[in-house]
Amino acid sequence: MSIFRTKSIEQSLRDTDEPGRGLRKNLSAFHLTVFGVGVIIGTGIFVLTGQQAARNAGPAIVLSFALAGVVCALAALCYAEFASSVPVAGSAYTFSYATLGQFVAWVIGWDLCLELALGAAVVSRGWSAYLQELLNLPTWLAGDKAIPDFGAAFIVAALTVVAVMGAKLSGRVTGVLVVVKVAVVVFVIGLGLFFIKAANYTPFIPAATPSTKASGGEAPLLQVLAGITPQHFGWFGIVAAASIVFFAYIGFDVVATTAEETRNPQRDVPWGIIGSLVICGVLYMATAFVVTGMVPFDQLDTAAPLARAFDLVGQGWAADLISLGAVCGITSVILVLLLGQARVTFAMARDGMLPPVLARVHPRYGTPWVMSTITGVVVAVLAAFVPLSELSELTSIGTLFAFVVVSIGVIILRRTRPDLPRAFRVPGVPWLPALSVLASLYLMLNLPVVTWVRFLIWMAVGLVLFFAYGMRRADAAISAGAASEGGAASEGGAASEGGAASEGGAASGGGGRSDGRSGSVDRP
Ligand code: ALA
Repeated sequence: MSIFRTKSIEQSLRDTDEPGRGLRKNLSAFHLTVFGVGVIIGTGIFVLTGQQAARNAGPAIVLSFALAGVVCALAALCYAEFASSVPVAGSAYTFSYATLGQFVAWVIGWDLCLELALGAAVVSRGWSAYLQELLNLPTWLAGDKAIPDFGAAFIVAALTVVAVMGAKLSGRVTGVLVVVKVAVVVFVIGLGLFFIKAANYTPFIPAATPSTKASGGEAPLLQVLAGITPQHFGWFGIVAAASIVFFAYIGFDVVATTAEETRNPQRDVPWGIIGSLVICGVLYMATAFVVTGMVPFDQLDTAAPLARAFDLVGQGWAADLISLGAVCGITSVILVLLLGQARVTFAMARDGMLPPVLARVHPRYGTPWVMSTITGVVVAVLAAFVPLSELSELTSIGTLFAFVVVSIGVIILRRTRPDLPRAFRVPGVPWLPALSVLASLYLMLNLPVVTWVRFLIWMAVGLVLFFAYGMRRADAAISAGAASEGGAASEGGAASEGGAASEGGAASGGGGRSDGRSGSVDRP
C-alpha cells in the first residue's frame, strides 16, 4: 500500500542539504522562545478570557486555562522530542511522513492550513478591529464591518514582505513586539491586583445552567453525543471554555517549523517549545485570575474585556494602553503564523507533494520566498473578504488534530527507530504520549458541533486533492529519493521496521549530522 510509505529521516535531512533547497541557519534558543511567545500571546488572552468567563466558566476560567495548558504541555513534550530528532521545516507534516506515511503526512499538511493560514487570517481581522477602535478609523476601512477589510489585508501584505526578507528580520520585528506585549500583560496583572475584590470570586464555579442557544450546533459535540442538555458553567462549562481558550496557547508548536533554521536544533527547539509555553501559561493564569477578580465575570463579554475591566474600575487611561499592546501583540502572531504556513507548504513542495517551483529558496535572503508570497496573497484575500470571527474554533480543532498525530508518531518512532539520536526524550513513553492523545481528543470533543462539521468538510476536500494529485506526485518523488539512497523509504507502513533495517548506515547518517549545520545555503 504505497500511501503508507514513509520517508526516511535521513532522506528528509539530506533534502535540507541540497543547494538552493535548505533554509539559512540563524536562530538560537532565545530567538525560538521569543518566536514562541510572539505567536502564542494574541487574540486569545486579549479577547477570549473575558468572553469565556462570562459565557462558560465564571472565575473558574483560571481552571480552564490550567486544563488547556496541561493538554498543551503534554503535546509540547512530544513536539520537543520529534523536533530534536527530525529538525526539518515541516513540523507535524515531516514527523508524520517519517512515521505514519505519505497519506497521513498529506492529511496533516492540509490540516495545518487551518492552524496557520486560517489562523493568520482570523487573527488579522482581530488586529484590524483593535486598530479601528484605537485610532477611530472609518468603519468601511477596517474592523468587523469592513468588507473588504483593508486593515487586515494591509497587515498581512506588510508582514509577508518581512517574512520574505529573512528569519533575522522577522526575529527582530517579533522581538520588539514581544517585549511590548509581555509588558502590557504584566502591567494588566500588576495594576489589576490592586483592584481585586474577593467578592467577585464567589461563586468561583457558577452553578450549571441550561444553554440559551436555540441551535444545537453551538453545543459541544460531547454534550450532544452524551445526550446531555447543553449547558454553561459547572464542570462542563469549565471544559467547554478550556477547549475554546485553547486557541490562546496555539503557537508553541509553530516553533518546530523553524527547526531547520536553528543553529543547534536538537538542543534549542525543545527549549523554545517548552520555554515559550511555560512563560505564556503562567501569564495567562495570572491574567485570568486578576481580571475575574476585578469585576463581576458577567460584565466581561465584550470584544476587549481586559480594557473593559480597567474602564469599569475607573482606570480608562489603562484601557487605551492595553489596546495599543493588543495591536502590537497581535501583529507578531500574524507574522509567525505566516512564517509557519510557508515553511510547511515549502516542505511539502520539496517532497514533491506540491509543484517543485514552490520549494524555491531566495538566493539572497535564504527564505522560502515563493511559498511566503503565495501564502501572503491567499491569507490577505481571505482576511479581506471572508467574515472570520466564528472560525477561531476551526483553527483550534485543526491544531488539536495535529497534536494527536504527533503524539502517536512519538510512540511509533521509538519503536521503528530506537537508534535515532534524540537530544530530548519524552519521559514515560508510551504512557505520556498516549495521555496526550486522549487529552487532545477530549478537548476536540468539547468543541461545538458546527466546528466538527466544518472540520470534516475541510478534511474531505483534502482527501479528494490527495487522491487526485498529491499521491501520484509524492510517490514519484519518494521513489526517486529512495533509489538515490538505496531503499530508505519503507513500504511496510507505519509500524514497519523495514525502513530502518534497510538503511544500513542510518544511525551514522543521522548522528553525523547532529548539529544540523552542514551544507545549508548560508553562503549562496
Ligand atoms: N495563540 C494565538 C492567539 O491567541 C493564536 O492569538
